[in-house]
Amino acid sequence: MTNIKVSPSGQSKGFVSNTKKFSIAFRNIFRRFFDYKSDVLMGYEYRPHYALCLLLAAEGAKKIGVKSLKVFEIGCAGGSGLIDLQYLTKQVQSYTGINFEIHGFDYGIGMPPSDDVRDCLYLWQEGEYPMDIDKLKAKLLSSTQLHIGDVANTLNSACSMSESPIGVIFFDVDYYTSTKSALDILSLLPSKALLPRTISYFDDFLFTSDYSGELLAINEFNQISCDRKISRIPHLSSYLSLKWQNWIYLGEKIFYMHSFNHNQYSIMDIDADKVKGRLDLT
Ligand SMILES: C[S@@+](CC[C@H](N)C(=O)[O-])C[C@H]1O[C@@H](n2cnc3c(N)ncnc32)[C@H](O)[C@@H]1O
Repeated sequence: MTNIKVSPSGQSKGFVSNTKKFSIAFRNIFRRFFDYKSDVLMGYEYRPHYALCLLLAAEGAKKIGVKSLKVFEIGCAGGSGLIDLQYLTKQVQSYTGINFEIHGFDYGIGMPPSDDVRDCLYLWQEGEYPMDIDKLKAKLLSSTQLHIGDVANTLNSACSMSESPIGVIFFDVDYYTSTKSALDILSLLPSKALLPRTISYFDDFLFTSDYSGELLAINEFNQISCDRKISRIPHLSSYLSLKWQNWIYLGEKIFYMHSFNHNQYSIMDIDADKVKGRLDLT
């Protein structure tokens, strides 16, 4: 048994106003009167972009009869994202019934050395974002796995640690080379290791280019992989911004990793009617 309190990270709490903190707490206490997904869409959650990714994946999993998903955060720095994931997966589990296994991947001693111009070294440098591994471990549930080392060496074995497919991947390793290392491994996984459309969140486009950073790694992944493609979800950010304006920016970071050869790829979405709208004459 663990007595770790599952709550949002101090970093995320610092991001929101006291008014919003109060609203989130109020809605959590009276949860049965407030729909959780509507709250996330209106921004009433800590790290709402992480919450939405988990919700989208859980809905996708339910549709095809999957009960448990892996969630990866690739690049953890101090570990605030992992702490938030422990809290958010509990929220999404209560709402959807889907269970999550959390895996965090980090170099452990800050950004690795690089002399590759495609890593946008004008934005990031060696040693930035070091992790206090012991301090973080003391805050992790025993079910949260921390994989320390170059993601090129740690990702593959984590992918096969259980039968649960990977539902969400938060990419936050900043460099082109690190993102590419992860994507090279993901491109070779059997489709059953993923959802038909695995939610893929990329954090680091700002001030990079199509020829460097995460965008270059995505473009190269799409060039070498025939049946697996990473794509923007057209209109997602503008569509979501009808509920909360911050989605204009946050929604741009959420992609699908399509596995077109997944044997459940074409199973009808339970919510498809809501998206398409009904066309019958009334
Ligand atoms: C911006 S920080 C992550 C922030 C974190 N996701 C959060 O929200 O708090 C980037 C992290 O990527 C890690 N990283 C970069 N390249 C890596 C690699 N090749 N393997 C493992 N970790 C790497 C660094 O150690 C650093 O901690």
